[in-house]
Amino acid sequence: MINLVVVESVFTSIEIIQAARKFSEHVTLARGIDKSLFRSQSLNAQILSEIDIVEGGHRDPQGLVATLESLAASSPIDAVVSVSEICIEEVSAFCARQGIRFTDAAGVRLAKDKFASKVRLRELGLFASQHEAITSLEDLENAAERVGFPCVLKPRKGAASIGVAILRNATDCSAARSRTLTESMTLEQSTFISSDWVLEEYLQGPMLSIEAAHAAGKTKVFTVGQRSRACHDESIEIGTLLPAPIPDAVVHECQVFAEGVISGLGLNLGIFHIEAVRTQEGLKLIECNPRLMGGSLPHLYDLAYGESIHTRLLEIMCYGRLPQFAPLPQRFGASCFLAALTPGTVPHDLNLSWLSEYDSGAVKYHGFVPPGTPFEATRSNLGYLGRFLVFGPDPLKLDHLRREILDRFSESFGVPFARPEVLE
Ligand SMILES: Nc1ncnc2c1ncn2[C@@H]1O[C@H](COP(=O)(O)OP(=O)(O)OP(=O)(O)O)[C@@H](O)[C@H]1O
Ligand SMILES: [Mg+2]
Repeated sequence: MINLVVVESVFTSIEIIQAARKFSEHVTLARGIDKSLFRSQSLNAQILSEIDIVEGGHRDPQGLVATLESLAASSPIDAVVSVSEICIEEVSAFCARQGIRFTDAAGVRLAKDKFASKVRLRELGLFASQHEAITSLEDLENAAERVGFPCVLKPRKGAASIGVAILRNATDCSAARSRTLTESMTLEQSTFISSDWVLEEYLQGPMLSIEAAHAAGKTKVFTVGQRSRACHDESIEIGTLLPAPIPDAVVHECQVFAEGVISGLGLNLGIFHIEAVRTQEGLKLIECNPRLMGGSLPHLYDLAYGESIHTRLLEIMCYGRLPQFAPLPQRFGASCFLAALTPGTVPHDLNLSWLSEYDSGAVKYHGFVPPGTPFEATRSNLGYLGRFLVFGPDPLKLDHLRREILDRFSESFGVPFARPEVLE
């Protein structure tokens, strides 16, 4: 029996906990401080009642490490899984000290650093794009001139698109500066978003996410998704079409690209989420997250492929081997997030009864904010009002359907929502 520890803090991780529960009789959850995130459904309560729970916290990385150390002292840990970005560095360092199989700690640290990771890949002659590290935004205009407009400003270590801005001219630089300096980050965010910056060449072309597994020295791409960004601001992600409707030759390109990025960064074990743009010069890296895809993507994967990506991850992390073959998709899935373009309040009498007009199996909606809640215009992945998934056999029809449903949500919420860019 494997003594398996799941380190998690966010509500989406209930799925990895559920998969772990099926995988091993002995599962311990080292849980983040915000317990309310796990309470949303009775199913969650049942799953949580079947496992051991110890309190740790992503808002207190040292507290989390102390929790893990006392767990290991009381009973040797065989395997650790963690799918959220927030504490992955601490978890990988802990596993390295304890000799527990996990993603290499130096690789995780490098991948999380959006400047150092690109320097490394550039040194290896891979995927060169212009980029520069800056410690202050005082001189942003000059730095942007050096990199060249348009360019992208982002925290050197970040997540959820917080603080990301596309700069097309000097006016955008001063707007980004005043927005960023006045934007007060929550305590939670300041523990995982760095206060220094990277400025990158803006990559033009369709955005793909490559979900690639690596174990025993081999890389295998499980799936490639086509990302849709907001038409009005490409730093806001609106959804994904999975699998991307791309020819085999492009899937092969993604495989070669993933092999280069993963080995270049020294990521030796896990399933990684690589974001890239397919430019006219080929694929170029936005970032390689040293953890499983997040948000609605695991759910979309399960729907499209008819299998659990979390179970795949558990097999890799517990046994250190790659599966014999990658799965085949059974249908396409598309996600769409509700990103408000203007501030407002979720109507007290929010009426979504029209959802029943759609085949109940083919549209899955999850609201994030209860009726009566005021909201701001969405500026990062943490500000969505909800999301829906649609799935079926035809990717173009799905894209059309998701736009139609998005319009109906706009009517119901009484606010315009960001529209996904047109698929190329
Ligand atoms: N160099 C670039 N060229 C074009 N678009 C970019 C570039 N860098 C970032 N973006 C856009 O901004 C978004 C957020 O950037 P990035 O992924 O680096 O930040 P993040 O905070 O890690 O976001 P997330 O956790 O949402 O993936 C990307 O998904 C992409 O849409
Ligand atoms: Mg990203």
